[in-house]
Amino acid sequence: MVTRQFRQHFNRSMMISRLANYFLGKNEVAPPSDYRLLTSLLSLAWVVEARDPYTGGHLWRVSRFANMLARKAGLSDKDAWVVSIGGFLHDLGKIAVPDAVLKKADRLTDEEFAAIKTHPDVGRTLLAQHPLGAVVLDAVYSHHERPDGKGYPQGLSGSAIPRASAIIGICDAFDAMTSNRPYRKGMPVEQALSIIAKNLGTQFDREFGEAFLQLGRAENLYHIVEHSDEGIPLQRCFGCGPTMVVKRETTVGASIFCPVCHGGYTFTGLLAVPEPSGKLANAADIQADPDEELIARIVGKAWDTYLAPLAR
Ligand SMILES: [Fe+2]
Repeated sequence: MVTRQFRQHFNRSMMISRLANYFLGKNEVAPPSDYRLLTSLLSLAWVVEARDPYTGGHLWRVSRFANMLARKAGLSDKDAWVVSIGGFLHDLGKIAVPDAVLKKADRLTDEEFAAIKTHPDVGRTLLAQHPLGAVVLDAVYSHHERPDGKGYPQGLSGSAIPRASAIIGICDAFDAMTSNRPYRKGMPVEQALSIIAKNLGTQFDREFGEAFLQLGRAENLYHIVEHSDEGIPLQRCFGCGPTMVVKRETTVGASIFCPVCHGGYTFTGLLAVPEPSGKLANAADIQADPDEELIARIVGKAWDTYLAPLAR
């Protein structure tokens, strides 16, 4: 039987030898394999998210909230990193949800909701053989479980729900409540917090939920709500609301397009209102385009807090 100590020693030795190869120049151009694997997973998650034109920035926001909550609840730097990456990847399984269901503007039928509910299991299948799959499995597979056992896919309850899943479940719900949907406007932070407060112990983990309430009351979360990156608010389409994601490198005067109505705008600055350009998007204008700089920043942070210390 392989002991835990041996496994830890083995993992550590593997990591150190990989890093040694990297720093000794055997792998000069490309970063070590785990770094690239993680980058490709986040890019994939970005493209899956882009299938739903109303949820731009959701992964970044959930990842950001989850990191804040993990720290507030006293998790270690390493665990906060795992939760943060898990937050970015939690909806990977939505790749298998049909467009007609994913993009439906009205209330879902039971059958359609059953199709949505397959996504944690699809995510688990996708990650089952992935070298980093085990790290984020809880986030992907169990983020819709509830303390009262009424969640899915397993109907776990109470302390059987992994910590990362409980944290991401709260952040996911908070972001859904404070974001616009085709059929409703996003609600104010205070209202979303009061809904979390009312459902502690039933829908939301009590301990982490209380920590999130403290966070929401102590800090202004509006720098994350309706944003797609640090300091980058979603750009507002006149007809469809805040749907347009711009990157840090987007320059004033650039053409941007609403992913919902495909209407064109001229970007006039992060805090300004985009001007309608009269253009209509072609396929290339609205193709899913992962923000490589943002993803590299998140993966880089993970590398600093989780992987690099192993090399010391
Ligand atoms: Fe989900």
